[in-house]
Amino acid sequence: MPATVVVGTQWGDEGKGKLTDLLAKDMRLVVRYQGGHNAGHTIVVDGESFALQLVPSGVLYSHTVPVIGNGVVVDPAVLLKECEMLEGRGIDTSRLVVSGNAHLIMPYHYELDLMTERFLGHNKLGTTKRGIGPAYADKAARIGLRVQDLLDPKIFREKLDVVLREKNAILSRVYNRLPLDGNEIADRYLGELAPRIEPMIGDAVALVHEALAVGEQVMLEGAQATYLDVDHGTYPFVTSSNPTAGGACVGTGIGPRDISRVIGIVKAYVTRVGSGPFPTEVDGEIADFLVERGGEYGTNTGRRRRPGWLDLVMLRHAARLNSLSELAITKLDILSELETIKVCVAYEGPDGARYEHMPYHQSVLHAVKPIYEEVPGWGSDLAGATTVADLPEAARRYVELVAERAGVPVTFVGVGPGREQYVSFAA
Ligand code: IMP
Repeated sequence: MPATVVVGTQWGDEGKGKLTDLLAKDMRLVVRYQGGHNAGHTIVVDGESFALQLVPSGVLYSHTVPVIGNGVVVDPAVLLKECEMLEGRGIDTSRLVVSGNAHLIMPYHYELDLMTERFLGHNKLGTTKRGIGPAYADKAARIGLRVQDLLDPKIFREKLDVVLREKNAILSRVYNRLPLDGNEIADRYLGELAPRIEPMIGDAVALVHEALAVGEQVMLEGAQATYLDVDHGTYPFVTSSNPTAGGACVGTGIGPRDISRVIGIVKAYVTRVGSGPFPTEVDGEIADFLVERGGEYGTNTGRRRRPGWLDLVMLRHAARLNSLSELAITKLDILSELETIKVCVAYEGPDGARYEHMPYHQSVLHAVKPIYEEVPGWGSDLAGATTVADLPEAARRYVELVAERAGVPVTFVGVGPGREQYVSFAA
């Protein structure tokens, strides 16, 4: 049975956690393929809210094996804390497997993330300050430490000493910071954390292939989203990994032919956190409405998200970048009180040209004006809707508009935060 990829089509925070949780019901493996604890997934089960950063959503079902793939960057202390939190709330985390090939986030990565942002001044990216970018940079520079290094203290120490020499020189001479102590880091990672992480470390690639070979369902869970992709997003205002569906192959060790479904998650409006272009961004009353009604504050950082209208230009392009086979619309209920709703159907470029797809040139993207269609709202609560027939006609039309203009069928619509609050459009 080929794998299913779940990917955000905007700038993250589309509400992926809810759909991944729902799909996890039928999955044997749920595998995270990129990112780290910069992610934040909220899942509400029986009125209880679970905020996950690193552990894949599937952990909440006892029949799924949650896997952290090789493409993820892992702070072992954060992972252990999250497992403790889940255990404390009665969730068994003993099935969790962490790829030995995933890279470690080290203390100097946090320092460098902070310092780089500070030095960029008003050009800062607005990162989550979790050391994500510096950890991926070390991976590409081939000086990263990996989860498997925790199993071999001698190798861990050798690698740490080499890399720390360079990091300390940068921290002290460039950024005027105190150098970090290698013994302290080694004691913490090898003494405190490694013995507790060790039982989780495994061969994630083999696990995925074994499951696929016997026809078991595998879900590849993306974090962040298409426009935060380091190659295809609004660079440099992106994260340092590949959330797009291609990243799911690299980050788990499978080929494209092992994937049959790619589900794009579309929030019924758009938000972004941090800096960067955002053609349909709104301010004033409507911005406050979307933020407050949608609870648009970072799961991790508490930052207020920047809100805007749904952007079908982005969605159309995301459909190409990810070869989306279906769409899941989330948070449709948030728009319920609005009399009319704007949807961006194209951009007008600075030269007057009409763009149906995202312009590749960042300066053009910064200068485009959204062309909106205004559609009627539905003026009634959607919270109790469970079938397509329960949706008011205007809400159904909104869903149809999205599907038609994106050229991808919609199979799921979220109408509230609870696990059961959704409408299935599947044939
Ligand atoms: P980093 O991933 O911490 O390096 O941050 C880079 C950019 O990605 C910043 O604009 C962050 O706000 C954004 N970002 C990272 N993770 C998430 C996420 O899970 N949701 C939304 N934005 C994110």
